[in-house]
Order: sequence, then C-alpha cells, then structure tokens
Amino acid sequence: MRTLTGITPSGTLHVGNYFGAMRPAIEAQARGDCFYFIADYHSMTSVTDPALRRANTRGIAVDWLACGLDPERSVFWRQSDVPEVCELTWLLGSVTPMGLLERAHSYKDKTSKGISPNFGLFAYPVLMAADILLYDTNVVPVGQDQKQHLEMARDIAIKFNQTYGETFVVPEPEIRVDVASVPGLDGQKMSKSYGNTLEIFGDEKTLRKKVMSIVMDSRTPAEPKPDADRNLCIQLLKLVAPSDVAADYEGRLRAGGLGYGDLKKALFEHFWGCFARARARRAELLADPGYVEQVLREGAGRARAVASGVIRRARLAAGLD
Ligand code: ADP
Ligand code: TRP
Repeated sequence: MRTLTGITPSGTLHVGNYFGAMRPAIEAQARGDCFYFIADYHSMTSVTDPALRRANTRGIAVDWLACGLDPERSVFWRQSDVPEVCELTWLLGSVTPMGLLERAHSYKDKTSKGISPNFGLFAYPVLMAADILLYDTNVVPVGQDQKQHLEMARDIAIKFNQTYGETFVVPEPEIRVDVASVPGLDGQKMSKSYGNTLEIFGDEKTLRKKVMSIVMDSRTPAEPKPDADRNLCIQLLKLVAPSDVAADYEGRLRAGGLGYGDLKKALFEHFWGCFARARARRAELLADPGYVEQVLREGAGRARAVASGVIRRARLAAGLD
C-alpha cells in the first residue's frame, strides 16, 4: 500500500503543522512505502521570486528531515525534479471537464477575494491529480481543506480509465479529523494567516515571550477551575508534554493553587524540550547543505523510476506511443 502526500513550501512551520501533518506522516513511515514531495510547482501560483522559492524549498526539506522524515524509509523529493508530472497534467487535463474545475473551492475563494486568476490557479487540481496518479498511490493523508482536491483526483482517474481503459489506481483520501485543529495562542485554530503561531524552529527568547503573553482569565491562582480541560495552555501541554505530566498540571489547575504564570512557564519548557532533538538535528543539517541536496536528488531518482513506468502506461493507453 503506497501513501503519498505533497508539502507546499510556504513559510515557517508551526506546532499546528507538526501535530496535524508532519507527525502523522512521520509515523506512517512505520507502515512502509511512503512517498513525500515538496510541491514547488504548486508554489508558482503564489510565489514569483525564484530566490524565495529556492530558500523555501530548501528550508522545508531541512525542517522535515530534522523532524524525523527518514530518507532510508521514505522517498523524499522535489516535485520539479520529476517533470513527467507536467506531461501527465496535460493528459489528465484533456479529459477533465471545465465544470469540475469551476466548482473548486480554492479557485472560487481566491477569485472572490479579488485575486486575478491565472491558468495555473485554475489547473491546480489537475496538477495535484497528476502528483497522485503518477505514483500509483493508494492513500493520500491530507487535511480537511484538501478533501475536494482529492475527490477531483479520483474523478479524473475514473474519467481517464473510462476513456482509455484501466490505467490509473483510484486513490483513497485519509482525512485527519482528530488532529484537525491545534489551537493557536489566541484560542482560534493555529494558522499562519491568523498570526497566532508557535514556530517549531523559532528563536528561544521570542517564543518564550509569545507563550508568556498568552491571555488567560482573571481568576486568582487559589480559585478551583472546573473547566481546566478547556484551558488553552493545558490543551497545548497535552501535545508537547508526557501525558502524566499534562494530567498532573490539569489536576492542579482544577483543584486551585496553580497560577497561570507557572503554567505558562511549564508549557514553554515542555514545548522547548519536545523539539530539542529536532533542533539539534536541524543545526547539523544546516551545516551540511550538500547532504540535503543529495537526499532530494536520490529521492528524485527513486520517484522517477516509478513515474516513468506509469507515464509509459498512460501514453500507451492514449495512443501516444
Ligand atoms: P497554515 O494554516 O498555517 O497556512 P497550511 O495550510 O500550510 O497551514 O497547512 C499545512 C499542513 O498543516 C496541512 O496538512 C494542514 O492541515 C496542517 N495544519 C495547519 N494548521 C493546523 C492546525 N492548527 N492544526 C492541525 N493541523 C494543521
Ligand atoms: N495542495 C496541497 C496543499 O496545499 C499540497 C499538495 C500538492 C498535495 N500535491 C499534492 C497533497 C498531492 C497531497 C497530494 O496542502
């Protein structure tokens, strides 16, 4: 069973990304046959500075490797190193109804915000379908926001198979609902767009200040807090601290006697400790850019070996041999 997912190289990773997307992907490596790629072609509809694209792509590769992506167990590559995906986009686009693309939420959202659409933005779901179908993918773990794109990938695979005969594996989505929403420092969903993030690899002083500035209510430390389980710091502590430690803090907060300042200090220390190994690994990786480049290049070689077989099958089916 092959698992595949794409990672858009946009901005700095936060704790929500880690628990929502990275940790499940890293854990899936134990099941074997994982294909993970950095979606640099996809970034072209939002980023037009080549230096920034290069830096983001490199940065995200380093961060994922630091967090435990193991290139011995997973195939990890840069999307644009396997340009066959563009050829497949054309083959798939030629059987994709306009109506299907016109219904895409992401396209409708952007245009309704006044962003003038280009062909790339409109065709984005076809490129995403090509990403998935090019590798005979069985399962695609994604967040809720990508659900419609996955349904489109399935529709496109089925349409191609009906038109040209059985060619593609029809993929299944794996929508993560349990970890769908890590709260941000203001209690809303943690997101870059809300400015409420705790960055995984940020500077210690800045992050400590962010945690210590979390707004709590005005109850005194001595007061019992029966709603301790809904406290934002407790919710975050449950993610970054061992479960018995988080349960102990929750109990003390519920009983009364634990001040919010002490709770925030504990949250920061556990958060900082939780990513200590990843931070050390990241420093090593940053000192050795040649290694990261080699990982991506070898990954591209392994990905391409699969892709060339599938594109040959598609070309043959469509009479392009
Ligand atoms: P952002 O909302 O900060 O822009 P992205 O859209 O780039 O984050 O998300 C990248 C991945 O991280 C997606 O798989 C998404 O589902 C996951 N993710 C983002 N924020 C959270 C969150 N607060 N809780 C859980 N998962 C999240
Ligand atoms: N569009 C996805 C996102 O914005 C990233 C992505 C690109 C992807 N191609 C993919 C995810 C293929 C899963 C499968 O998060």
